[in-house]
Amino acid sequence: MLRRAGLRSFSTQAQAKKTVVNSWDEFSPLKHIILGVPHNGSIPAVCPASNCKIPHDSDMRGIHGRRPQHSIDRALELREKFAEKLRSHGIRVDAPTAQDYTKRQASPMWDVDNGFGCAVPRDTLMTIGNEILFSTMSFRSRWWEYLSYRDLVLQYWKEDPNMKWEEAPKPRLYDDSYKPNYLDEHDLADEAVRLEKVQNRDFVTKDWHEPLFDAADCLRLGKDLFVQNGFTTNQAGINWIQRHFPDHRVHALDFPGDQYPIHIDCTLVPLKAGLLMSNPNRPVRPEHKKIFEDNGWQIVDAPKPAWDSPPPLCYSSVWLSMNTLVLDEKHIVCEASELPLQESLKQLGFEPVPVDWRDCYAFGGSFHCWTADVYREGGCNDYFPNQENRVPIATYKE
Ligand code: ARG
Repeated sequence: MLRRAGLRSFSTQAQAKKTVVNSWDEFSPLKHIILGVPHNGSIPAVCPASNCKIPHDSDMRGIHGRRPQHSIDRALELREKFAEKLRSHGIRVDAPTAQDYTKRQASPMWDVDNGFGCAVPRDTLMTIGNEILFSTMSFRSRWWEYLSYRDLVLQYWKEDPNMKWEEAPKPRLYDDSYKPNYLDEHDLADEAVRLEKVQNRDFVTKDWHEPLFDAADCLRLGKDLFVQNGFTTNQAGINWIQRHFPDHRVHALDFPGDQYPIHIDCTLVPLKAGLLMSNPNRPVRPEHKKIFEDNGWQIVDAPKPAWDSPPPLCYSSVWLSMNTLVLDEKHIVCEASELPLQESLKQLGFEPVPVDWRDCYAFGGSFHCWTADVYREGGCNDYFPNQENRVPIATYKE
């Protein structure tokens, strides 16, 4: 209870105005956001989906459980400063309710020694217009994470009579949701084997066993949703999203150069309407590029990150440099040490907002991961009226 009471203080200032849920894209002016908290952050216990994601040489391999307290304290300190910065831009900042992720997490079919945390709401929550959709998720360690957002979403639902609260079917995550022995111990360390599999769209999650998706695989660009197929989102998941949002056009993307294809927000990142930043090591496939070109979207390469390696106990790559948060048409929040990125953004006409964040990376990512939109101005724009070269999403075949 103490922990919950402590967290309340984050959201009290936020309650002056009644909530309206509305967000259709990643760049319209931001007014209200959920920012994760590092409390009880844990190194996830391995499960079939997560095993392939953790690089073979990562310092996280072979360990799990509660993260060092000093790292939690440090993340908390940085979180408060970032929240203050967001508020200074007129943005309401809410906090989820931490649970005890250090405990065993179980379902009738499986159990793992501990969970993950609630630092990165972007993975769980997808806001499309007036709807907040809870994604299925695909790691056993993260199965119960959705409960961390129930207090907030219930509050939004009560305050905004038009808000739609939806939850995708919770997956069973049996062993046979995944490909058995997708990578053996030897192949785990073999970059060429990994890249070839990804090139051939051969991912650890089976495509049609049950729908699986993480919200952070979905790029929201008005009427069009671009969803990454990889280790966290399968084809059934993408198909489920399309049926759930029949007025949207869903497109599946996958990125051959990514050895650990999880979450699109270090790979293809919108900066404003008509402009995307792409990870030069994970280029967009030529057949997927067409729809962007046909509709006048420009794709620029992100500069090389400032760092050669991620911070300790971090399961993401150095490309977290790209994991920015767009506040409005001018301001983009960037990690303070990522000077090459800030320079590129300036050249593109933006005003980077540097924030010290690297010590928060280990909890699940950078600014985009740590946040989930509640309100951005504007409506559902059609940025892709020319659909001539649309690649249809996969449908189930016997
Ligand atoms: N796959 C990304 C990388 O390591 C990490 C993405 C983290 N994103 C998130 N929403 N948790 O390059």
